[in-house]
Amino acid sequence: MNNNTTWIELARLPVGKMQDVLLARFVGRDEAAKMGFPPVILTRLATVISEMTRNVVQHAGCAGEIQIGKVAEAGKAGLRIIVADKGKGIEHPERFLEEGKIGTLGSGLAGSRRLVDGFKITSAPGEGTTVIMDIWNPAVDGIIS
Ligand SMILES: Nc1ncnc2c1ncn2[C@@H]1O[C@H](COP(=O)(O)OP(=O)(O)O)[C@@H](O)[C@H]1O
Ligand SMILES: [Mg+2]
Repeated sequence: MNNNTTWIELARLPVGKMQDVLLARFVGRDEAAKMGFPPVILTRLATVISEMTRNVVQHAGCAGEIQIGKVAEAGKAGLRIIVADKGKGIEHPERFLEEGKIGTLGSGLAGSRRLVDGFKITSAPGEGTTVIMDIWNPAVDGIIS
């Protein structure tokens, strides 16, 4: 996630109700499978997409959207997921990223951060929330095709 990052959007979907979570999860997994990600990473990806889109449905107070795309940066290539809403926002979101605060592996903000290679949250009360997550594909070497 720097100035030399290339990013190509593949899909953009609304996130407003629980069925949107399921669709986002399916589309993200499908795009990653087409890119040749190994199965263990597809599962991680599906988990973080579910968690972040579910947060919009449960906490934002309005609909948001998910963007799914290819990302490349300095010899690496993978999938970028951006989940954004203009809802309630979070005061000091970093307090939810601390290790061990929430139990289950992969659950919530802290768990999702551990499951991806790049994780950035921007949020403030009344200004909405944007989460950017990158997962690198170990099978690819920095070329977007
Ligand atoms: N998109 C969002 N909009 C508003 N608040 C959010 C959003 N995502 C997370 N939050 C806030 O951050 C807290 C922590 O989120 P999370 O780690 O996913 O745990 P959980 O969803 O189980 O409460 C939530 O309880 C909520 O208060
Ligand atoms: Mg949550």
